[in-house]
Amino acid sequence: MNTPLLEIRNLKKSFGSLEVLKGIDLTVDVGEVIFLIGPSGGGKSTFARCINFLEKPTCGDVIFSGQVMCQDRNGGHYKAPEKLVRLARGDMPMVFQHFNLFAHRTALENVIEAPIWVQGRNRSEAIEDALRLLGEVGLRDKADYYPAQLSGGQKQRVAIARALAMHPKLILFDEPTSALDPELVAGILETIRSLADKGMTLIVVTHEMGFARKLADTVHFFSDGRILESGPPDRIFDHPETDRLSEFIRSILR
Ligand SMILES: Nc1ncnc2c1ncn2[C@@H]1O[C@H](COP(=O)(O)OP(=O)(O)O)[C@@H](O)[C@H]1O
Ligand SMILES: [Mg+2]
Repeated sequence: MNTPLLEIRNLKKSFGSLEVLKGIDLTVDVGEVIFLIGPSGGGKSTFARCINFLEKPTCGDVIFSGQVMCQDRNGGHYKAPEKLVRLARGDMPMVFQHFNLFAHRTALENVIEAPIWVQGRNRSEAIEDALRLLGEVGLRDKADYYPAQLSGGQKQRVAIARALAMHPKLILFDEPTSALDPELVAGILETIRSLADKGMTLIVVTHEMGFARKLADTVHFFSDGRILESGPPDRIFDHPETDRLSEFIRSILR
């Protein structure tokens, strides 16, 4: 058996006295496409942020690509040193709902930033790579544009190119189309689909149920800080086992 790319055990996260994640177990294999669905406020974003340590889990284990990022040990909670965390984050970048581009940098500058400053790559190689990736997402001619000069869909493409520039092992998408005008959604979904087709490992938080059904290997239903159901899309969407999931599917389709 191959070891999974990502192993998460009993992950919990509290903000003060509010326990947002109540013990999440999840494994992701290389090349697997995972979708996280569920009602707003259930903890999906917090979970995605805990995976790549934008938030620090309160307890539990995260093992990514054979490296222990955090782990419950000897009655305590071990956290990997910050330097290792920063490098690992480059191997699993996140694409956000609101793009999170640097407003005062061009598309090209946004894409080369982390490869140069986090991964220590050579500037001219990083530029060459970035221009190729901007080309792949259809923005080669917009390399010198600033985010304010781009549409939402174009901004999100820059964000995807920026993630790809890290040569990641996994990409996290947190509602990548939720802030887009409806006519721009399909193009971004198509870009995500092409990544899956190339064998990229993906974790996608979305309310696009049709998309999840077509693309997912595994769907996890998040509710109130727990994964209530997991399975292949047909099982999750056609044969929900809990009332919560049935209700959620009905509310989305309404
Ligand atoms: N930084 C934070 N501080 C305090 N509470 C937070 C923070 N981030 C998220 N939460 C709370 O955690 C819960 C889950 O939020 P979130 O992970 O955004 O859910 P989802 O992405 O499923 O909508 C919500 O109650 C939210 O208010
Ligand atoms: Mg969210």
